[in-house]
Amino acid sequence: MSTHIGAAPGQIAPYVLMPGDPYRARWIAETFLEDPVQYNDVRGMLGYTGTYRGVPVSAQGSGMGQPSIGIYAHELFSEYDVRAIVRVGTCGALAESVKVRDVILGQAASTDSSMNRPRFGDVTFAPAADFDLLRFAWEAAQEKLLPAVVGGLFSSDQFYNPNTTIASTLADYGVLGVEMEAAALYTLAAQFSRRALAVCTVSDHLITGEETSAAERQESFEDMMVMALDAVVRLHDEEGQDRG
Ligand code: HPA
Repeated sequence: MSTHIGAAPGQIAPYVLMPGDPYRARWIAETFLEDPVQYNDVRGMLGYTGTYRGVPVSAQGSGMGQPSIGIYAHELFSEYDVRAIVRVGTCGALAESVKVRDVILGQAASTDSSMNRPRFGDVTFAPAADFDLLRFAWEAAQEKLLPAVVGGLFSSDQFYNPNTTIASTLADYGVLGVEMEAAALYTLAAQFSRRALAVCTVSDHLITGEETSAAERQESFEDMMVMALDAVVRLHDEEGQDRG
């Protein structure tokens, strides 16, 4: 086991879907995975491994915010040899062109976090998604007519942001949505030479004030899961690994 994950070596799949909410991890395992086995409940941060279309896949909660996802992603990459993490979460829309219920595939992640300062000093690193995961998720959305948009995310350390103008400034620079984890995840994938993608359903719109109902959020979450799972299967097929 690692410091925060109580799994034995080999209990976690090479491909991990990461919702913020540990109960979402359980929902993903029960809804989409065959023969799911729970491998973690340390701090209630549930993790499960099963298969999806014969491909081994895990679902692991990350908690909220970059320090939390940073801990889990670090341990998954460094101690469980995880090859790819796909964050599946929600975001707020910043761009007028993005509508609630759209799914943003996060190509890059700007951030107000200081987490990368000890790594790079005065240099501003540009955390970016893995291109193969991004294109596979995009292709899945195109084939299945799901409402995906590709562009930048803003990974903020503040859900309740006292800076009331930053949302519209970033929207002016083409950033599509705000969430709280992608930049740390992309940075750790870069550190460990692994793959990562953040796929986020739009739950609310910070500029127009539009919001989703609970039923819409659920449907949108299912669209997002199809894209994320399809991307992982396509990656697995391209990497030429044995199934099961
Ligand atoms: N800010 C940060 N994360 C979010 C938001 C938001 O407004 N909406 C959904 N996730």
